[in-house]
Amino acid sequence: MQQKLLHWYAKNGRHDLPWRNTDNIYHIYLSEIMLQQTQVERVKNEFYFQFLEKFPTLKALGDADLDAVFGAWSGLGYYRRAKNLHASAKLCGGVLPKSVEELKKLPGIGEYTASAVCSFGYNQAVAVVDTNIKRVLQRHGAMLDATEKQIKKYALKLLNTKKPREHNLALMDLGSLICTPINPNCKACPLSITCNGKDEPELYTKKRKTRYENLELFLGVCIKENKVALIPSQDNMYKGMLTLPHVDPIEDDYLGSFKHAYTKYRITVKLYKATQVTQEAKWVKLDALHSAPISSLVKKSLQFFCNTKLPYTKPTQNLSTITLQ
Ligand code: ADE
Repeated sequence: MQQKLLHWYAKNGRHDLPWRNTDNIYHIYLSEIMLQQTQVERVKNEFYFQFLEKFPTLKALGDADLDAVFGAWSGLGYYRRAKNLHASAKLCGGVLPKSVEELKKLPGIGEYTASAVCSFGYNQAVAVVDTNIKRVLQRHGAMLDATEKQIKKYALKLLNTKKPREHNLALMDLGSLICTPINPNCKACPLSITCNGKDEPELYTKKRKTRYENLELFLGVCIKENKVALIPSQDNMYKGMLTLPHVDPIEDDYLGSFKHAYTKYRITVKLYKATQVTQEAKWVKLDALHSAPISSLVKKSLQFFCNTKLPYTKPTQNLSTITLQ
């Protein structure tokens, strides 16, 4: 089974991913944190290299201001990840621990991330179980209703202790390319001979209904002398970030509304032109917005503000010329 898996991986694995072609433990750790809730392509194309350019070492990250770290994380979402990454970098003084147990003591590092770092970074013989691997194992062992502990035990039983890194990466790719939640391609699977779940693979993928919550936000854009008023977010979702001030919808000029999706929230943003800001504001230069700790929602609002056709005094500096992406 192990040989078949490695053979399949050598031919079909995603070998081009940059964090699989480095032994820099900080780069590997960073990739795992970014990949926790963000798709591979977005991490690879939009954030991984850009972040490393700003913070090339764990020491540089720990020495940086949290604001700058949030700025580099801007648009990636789940900003607590950036906060924990920064705190961990500070705590370990630029040198990451080398064991699962020690890594788990750092903020934001749970069982998965600690084992992924040890396996992919140090080639230690530890079992890695993410959602893709979990599905592969559950199907392979026909483990309906298995607990996390039972799945981990099974992962350890199958682990190739001579090539743990390749083995775990192969299982991960098998889960995302072949043993998919719906319509798994069992015919192409290197493990189909020994798989005990192939007759009814859909049994192992319980559909969980996401419960969305609708949210309406009334935000104001106040621009003076090519600076925009931003306030520290009070919202736990965006803790540590800067956001647009909330406005009293009656008083200010209405510009229009747009929809935005963030985690389980379906947000309707109602945007207003604000002439003054009552909350304590930080005035951020328009040409510094690209590295400001702002969310995609704020970027979208500012873009919307620029594109609106309503008559009002626009900033002399055209916002659409500023890279907000
Ligand atoms: N390679 C290493 N870790 C990975 C992850 N979390 N997702 C996708 N590919 C990876």
